[in-house]
Amino acid sequence: MTESPAPHDAPDMPELFTWEFASDPYPAYAWLREHAPVHRTTLPSGVEAWLVTRYADARQALADQRLSKNPDHHDEPSHAKGKTGIPGERKAELMTHLLNIDPPDHTRLRRLVSKAFTPRRVAEFAPRVQELTDRLIDEFAAKGEADLIHDFAFPLPIYAICDLLGVPREDQDDFRDWAGMMVRHGKGPRGGVARSVKLIRNYLADLIHRKRAALDESDGSDDLISGLIRASDHGEHLTENEAAAMCFVLLLAGFETTVNLIGNGTYALLRNHEQMQEFRTTVARGDTAVLDTAVEELLRFDGPVEFATWRFATQPLELAGQHIAKGEPVLVVLAAANRDPARFDHPDVLDLDRRTNPHLGYGHGIHYCLGAPLARLEARTALATLLGRIPDLALAADPADLRWRGGLIMRGLRTLPVTFTAQPVGTCQETS
Ligand code: HEM
Repeated sequence: MTESPAPHDAPDMPELFTWEFASDPYPAYAWLREHAPVHRTTLPSGVEAWLVTRYADARQALADQRLSKNPDHHDEPSHAKGKTGIPGERKAELMTHLLNIDPPDHTRLRRLVSKAFTPRRVAEFAPRVQELTDRLIDEFAAKGEADLIHDFAFPLPIYAICDLLGVPREDQDDFRDWAGMMVRHGKGPRGGVARSVKLIRNYLADLIHRKRAALDESDGSDDLISGLIRASDHGEHLTENEAAAMCFVLLLAGFETTVNLIGNGTYALLRNHEQMQEFRTTVARGDTAVLDTAVEELLRFDGPVEFATWRFATQPLELAGQHIAKGEPVLVVLAAANRDPARFDHPDVLDLDRRTNPHLGYGHGIHYCLGAPLARLEARTALATLLGRIPDLALAADPADLRWRGGLIMRGLRTLPVTFTAQPVGTCQETS
């Protein structure tokens, strides 16, 4: 693995991308912030990239228009070919989505999707998220044990996004399987990811086609896909290809992220007893504003998106005094920036009361998370309901034995085994 040299007087650089690093990358990020804040490394995939770890530099890089999101700007050597995106994305003609494009195309597509994916649509969705959350907890509450990733954090966002998009209920389990194949890439063959991308692509193309036909017959429903088809900007509509890529990015960006926010958030609370107590008290009081502050802190402390998505220098530039050549990839390490002591007091402490919390967990600049209102709704509902309904939830594994997923961008647990007092069937308690 190639690393840019550290200053001679610095202690040895910790190894990146090992098992130990995956369990707790924060000491390595502290080292990088201090000794090599813009650091060139070779990733496990063989691709060379710059890692940006300080808060101020991260914020600057996220908003820097000289860093393109379009992978065609990657000056890629042959060994790095196609390793910076989702396997199968190019073949499935899904490249033209928000996370791969720059203005003016990005501006147009973001404006169009914002017309359909409105805060009102998300707010109206709240009862459905609550219903899904209760149903999933009902399914394991009587057992006295669960794997919170498999039984709860994983199914909730996938069913939620399916409902929001307008995927018929009878197809949602297929969708859940394909999405599962897509996120298991840390473990399974990369070919499996490409296959699931293709299956999702074909399904979405067909569904969009059917919804467009229903709209032509004035029979369209009020789901997000129908909204996307209807949305127009100066008389321009999304093409069917663009609509498929848009649905794909909503699924891609909105699924594993939320799984990990629920998983990492619950795990952080299970390991911080005082903060867990405080969280439960807030839930019992039904204080939504305090709950929202707490969820933001969980996102800062151990958020689901460890690295922002790929960026490529479109011209030679300097970042924190480091020269970056045209075509070189830059990865902003959100997890490192969110623990920068230059921006956050006691950054390694989980403080659910933290009021000033300008974390970068949802990114910054024009690619700032489009789904943040939905993510907040899902995370708040999931955590408040789970911890409100199951007061004695306890970790059923040694933290050292827990395994983290191996992907580059996301940070999340593979499993989160818990035990609790089994609840008799049908004892759904009052929750926030
Ligand atoms: C806890 C959950 C979530 C987190 C932490 C999160 C985080 C992020 C981050 C960091 C970015 C910026 C990436 C970059 O600049 O490289 C982003 C973009 C995006 N997110 Fe989220 N996200 C979450 C949930 C969602 C949900 C639920 C949706 C929608 C269903 C969504 C849709 C998007 C989209 C479409 C973009 C691209 C926006 C653009 O390029 O203009 N996200 N998200």
